[in-house]
Amino acid sequence: MREAVVSSSQAPRPPAHIAIIMDGNGRWAKARGLPRVAGHQRGAEAARIAVRTCRELGVKFLTLYAFSSENWKRPASEVDDLMALLRYYLRREVSDLTEQDVRLRFIGSRERLAPDIISEIEHAEARTQHNSGLTLVVALNYGSHEEIVQAARSLAQDVANGVLKPSDIDENTFAERLSTSDIPDPDLLIRTSGEQRLSNFLLWQAAYSELVFLDTYWPDFSRENLETAIAEFHRRDRRFGTTNG
Ligand code: FPP
Repeated sequence: MREAVVSSSQAPRPPAHIAIIMDGNGRWAKARGLPRVAGHQRGAEAARIAVRTCRELGVKFLTLYAFSSENWKRPASEVDDLMALLRYYLRREVSDLTEQDVRLRFIGSRERLAPDIISEIEHAEARTQHNSGLTLVVALNYGSHEEIVQAARSLAQDVANGVLKPSDIDENTFAERLSTSDIPDPDLLIRTSGEQRLSNFLLWQAAYSELVFLDTYWPDFSRENLETAIAEFHRRDRRFGTTNG
């Protein structure tokens, strides 16, 4: 009699932190003859699916690149559409996230964000701060170069004030000045739409992340896509890991 070699209870643990560059909303809409905003709307629904799936799979951190500091260069009408969508979801989602035991965090600069969006963000972060199932990190008005410059400036200021010696600065003290200081680095970074770039996203934090590029446009992203990316992550882990050999 043959027995299953691996039981489901031995399924590998999911990556603790998944980061996603949600790309392809515009192309998804264009392929259907729809306005770009329709792609963003469907993209926001895909983000809900990603959150729910990560929660169910036991992922502890999910970081979504919602709006980069470069996205301000898009036409004002598209920026307005994205901000309107964000406003809508911030108001609508917080109760649901709380029910799912999801904590919401935002990284990125709050400069240039509308005052009402900033207060919605503060409210959402405060209301979900004790949730511990999954931390959803939304990168909004975020850019790695700016984040790294900010960290360097803050260390330089401490040196100028005599609080810190240049020799005190190492990888840990530097990482402590980033907006992700209390968030583990991503294990797996996914980009959809077939593009293979980091686009100024988590450049410091993704130094050792496994990168998985999917051809799917973000609005079509599904549970199966996430499982495919996680399976790819585990294949790479088995090939390069040293502890289970
Ligand atoms: C990339 O698609 C996606 C974005 C710039 C924004 C991601 C936003 C969402 C998923 C919607 C939820 C976001 C908020 C702020 C609530 P693209 O427009 O660059 O697509 P393209 O490369 O095909 O043009």
